[in-house]
Amino acid sequence: MNSYFKIILITVHVIAFSILPAKAEDYKLPQYSSRDGFVPVVGRKGMVSVRETIAAKVGADILAKGGNAIDAAAAIGFALAVTYPQAGNIGGGGFMVAHIASENKTVAIDYREMSAGKARHDLYVGKDGKVNQKLAKYSRQSTGVPGTVAGLAFAVEKYGTMNLKQVLTPAYKLARDGFEVYTQLEVSLARAKERLSADPAALKVFYKADGSNYKTGEVLKQKDLANSLRAIMRKGTDAFYKGDIAKKIAADMAANDGLITEEDMAAYKVYERKPVFGSYKGYKIATMPPPSSGGVHMIEMMNMLENDDLKVKGHNSAATLHLYIESMRQAYADRSLYAGDPAFFKVPVEHLIDKEYAKEIRARIPMDRARLSSEVAPTKDWLKESMETTHFSVMDDQGNAVSNTYTLNFGFGNGIMAAGTGILLNNELDDFDHLPYEPDANGNISGKANAQEPHKRPRSSMTPTIVFKDDKPFLVTGSPGGGTIINTVFQTVMNVVEFDMNVAAASSKPRINHQWMPDMTTVESGVSQDTINILEKMGHKLNVGTRTLGSTNSIIYRDGYFYGAHDPRSMDAATIGIN
Ligand code: GLY
Repeated sequence: MNSYFKIILITVHVIAFSILPAKAEDYKLPQYSSRDGFVPVVGRKGMVSVRETIAAKVGADILAKGGNAIDAAAAIGFALAVTYPQAGNIGGGGFMVAHIASENKTVAIDYREMSAGKARHDLYVGKDGKVNQKLAKYSRQSTGVPGTVAGLAFAVEKYGTMNLKQVLTPAYKLARDGFEVYTQLEVSLARAKERLSADPAALKVFYKADGSNYKTGEVLKQKDLANSLRAIMRKGTDAFYKGDIAKKIAADMAANDGLITEEDMAAYKVYERKPVFGSYKGYKIATMPPPSSGGVHMIEMMNMLENDDLKVKGHNSAATLHLYIESMRQAYADRSLYAGDPAFFKVPVEHLIDKEYAKEIRARIPMDRARLSSEVAPTKDWLKESMETTHFSVMDDQGNAVSNTYTLNFGFGNGIMAAGTGILLNNELDDFDHLPYEPDANGNISGKANAQEPHKRPRSSMTPTIVFKDDKPFLVTGSPGGGTIINTVFQTVMNVVEFDMNVAAASSKPRINHQWMPDMTTVESGVSQDTINILEKMGHKLNVGTRTLGSTNSIIYRDGYFYGAHDPRSMDAATIGIN
């Protein structure tokens, strides 16, 4: 046959296979292993996994009506600002890793808060040389210029199919008409009452006129927040950064010793960054670059362990957990020196994610004993980071995927609402290292990388992540948890890519956390007592069963189905498959 006919024959073949319906025997039932005792949610046409159910339904509805994953993610982000004020926000900031199928590219959108023009590295340090925690955590001086409105608008305008007004509408209606308080919100508001009551605007919104708490099933309306959302719907992001809302925030700051001015609001910028890419045993990983420390140090840990056969050692066995702890110890020591805003500090990303560097630091891990953190790097006491952040994952049937983590830092941020806006303010600037920095005896400049400077973004641990298999989005995941986020996402990803767990099992297994300083491993309940005994004999200091770690929302796409799971550690979360 001459080559001309060969080409025609091949072309006919290819066209026939791509347009003909699948043969009956090609049809596959969803495949998931219930071996691990947990089963995922299944969907055929897309999926959302969100920390709060009402916002999850908003996202699912958008996917069902033909919106793409970016439209759904933006709508979820705005809806959570109303229904999950613990961490959902338009007064905070965050990070989105998104795979855009039509362009076959993956982007990292940085909408982290930035400090005010008047910020200084020793802003919260008193005359006694100590950090004034009230100022750093519960005052308007702890607030960075919020990035969420700009970030979600940027994503939807560049990569969505809907406009900003469309993705804001569900949030606006939820704020205007109210929604039924759910158990987790009732509990969170009751617990935060003392703090929120100190602010007249927050008190008025989150508690009834007689001062009593909202109960599950009662309707919570947020009139001022609805007005702010409507202003953004009408005038776009300028309403927030240059218009009425910016003016109100600046006036509120000026009246209460806050630092943010109208000029600071107008100066806010979203950055579309190249994700940090890594690989692990044939999988490709795309995750968040600086100013988040999450992606870099998760990849550093995965690189350290890539040549170990952890499957043979066993999931959550003493040998595997020993390697996890020692990798965490190293990664968090590096993080303390190097993580910060890349516009102000040259973060050595390429070095930290280099596989040769990983081999070198892996070789330093003894297999028979725990190291002391002081052996790994000079001692320094690091500030505790808040656990209140929230993550959501979205995938659609066009191959788009979104992994988004955003936050106000603490639950309900600093507990203060900018007067007349209904917007809770973040206390993200507490993520900077506050004490004045000086080189230590070894010349290390701990603290400089993450010292507060004008218009700088504080270091984060948020780790929104997409794992690729055969160059297609395979796993979308992320978690809240302050400094523990990196370790939670790391273990969730390892459960899938190393231990072949289905996504529900991967989300449910007990986790551990070590952050170099303090030299202590938190171990969730569920790790066997034998394992704990062996680890303690090796010299590991363990804190067992006192708390949970993280709250993941994850989706896997495999062979025509979406499989998802929200973390069993969280109440009122939801994963919804579109069919
Ligand atoms: N505020 C928590 C984080 O950014 O990691």
